[in-house]
Amino acid sequence: MREIRYICPIYSCGPGPPATAANLSGNPTMKDIIEVRRTDGTFSTVAIGNVLADLPALLPDRRVIVITDANVHRRYPDLVNRYEHILVGMGETNKTLITVGNVYSELLARGVDRKCFILGIGGGIVTDIAGFVASTYMRGLRFGFIASTLLAQVDASVGGKNGVNVDGYKNMAGTFNQPDFVLCDTSMLRTLPEREFRAGLAEIIKSGLIADRELFELFERHTIDELRDDPALLRRIITGAVRVKARIVEADERETGERKKLNLGHTFAHAVEKTSREFLHGEAVAIGLAMIADLSVREGTLTEDDARRIKEALTRMGLPLASGVEYRKLVRALEMDKKKDASQVSLILMNGIGDCLIRPKSFEEIGAADMD
Ligand SMILES: NC(=O)c1ccc[n+]([C@@H]2O[C@H](COP(=O)([O-])OP(=O)(O)OC[C@H]3O[C@@H](n4cnc5c(N)ncnc54)[C@H](O)[C@@H]3O)[C@@H](O)[C@H]2O)c1
Ligand SMILES: [Zn+2]
Repeated sequence: MREIRYICPIYSCGPGPPATAANLSGNPTMKDIIEVRRTDGTFSTVAIGNVLADLPALLPDRRVIVITDANVHRRYPDLVNRYEHILVGMGETNKTLITVGNVYSELLARGVDRKCFILGIGGGIVTDIAGFVASTYMRGLRFGFIASTLLAQVDASVGGKNGVNVDGYKNMAGTFNQPDFVLCDTSMLRTLPEREFRAGLAEIIKSGLIADRELFELFERHTIDELRDDPALLRRIITGAVRVKARIVEADERETGERKKLNLGHTFAHAVEKTSREFLHGEAVAIGLAMIADLSVREGTLTEDDARRIKEALTRMGLPLASGVEYRKLVRALEMDKKKDASQVSLILMNGIGDCLIRPKSFEEIGAADMD
């Protein structure tokens, strides 16, 4: 991983002007670049900067096709309308092979070939679809993302996992393929609904729990308003989470071992998403983290006091701790989870705060915990 920080001396650092009509701040202040080394030695760039100032340098000199959704198009028309664009439907139920097929047809109709560049602009649903389309259409086009939700900036757009759901099961078809770049502009988060912002915080708390105790502790010291409104703090938590993910992806791009740690809380989160439509992905992650904290206490890898701190931090951020779905139903849903390995699942346990470990567990053992 390589890191570069640019500070632009002509512009003052600070909250910047209110969002312009185009909802994009034209005020470049600073840029953090985290470069993730791929297994082939090349780098995928994550830039935490400014769309207007930084996009031109990141885009290759190619025909650009944007994939986005109607929400993002409505809020950022000046950005999207600059390029040919394709809109995909919103929500998890549209992250399917049917949507992918429709986008392929649209690309074909427009004569898009391998010399073109796909730019996904949106949240995790858009980046997962755009990354999958770009990786498979004509056996692969170059692509990049502008991540426009907090969750996409800190997690979904980074690391090269892309894919879609099949028969309601999450991310069953996909590839490992990192984008040329991910551009994260914190000013785009000003238009994000509060609930979506909170959902993104759950993934950052997860990153802290996996490998960065200080990052986790920021959630014990600051309120959600401070995290949202203080640009330096917001940048700190975003770069912190990206750093954790980048380090782990570099160590294990194809998820043969270490990368499984990024699934902390996700085993149960996916089961919650499978059994209830009530929760956003990030909210399901918060529930999964609370459940795994309890399991980690049972397994002797986390103290009760640390489990309490974790739940308190999640609650402070307005995130749920329980789904209301019966535990045995969650375990049954879990058996269909794609990470299952015959009768076992690689459970990621918290090893104190800021560390975790992978422990294979049978469904019987997990079911026996009976955590209702
Ligand atoms: N590939 C990965 O490694 C990975 C990691 C984590 C999550 N994910 C996936 O990400 C998806 C969830 O992503 P998400 O939480 O970003 O949800 P999302 O993509 O559905 O976006 C949330 C909502 O916010 C809207 N939106 C996007 N940007 C906006 C902006 N700047 N202002 C206002 N509204 C905006 C969207 O239109 C959508 O309605 C899930 O499918 C999950 O599986 C993937
Ligand atoms: Zn997630």
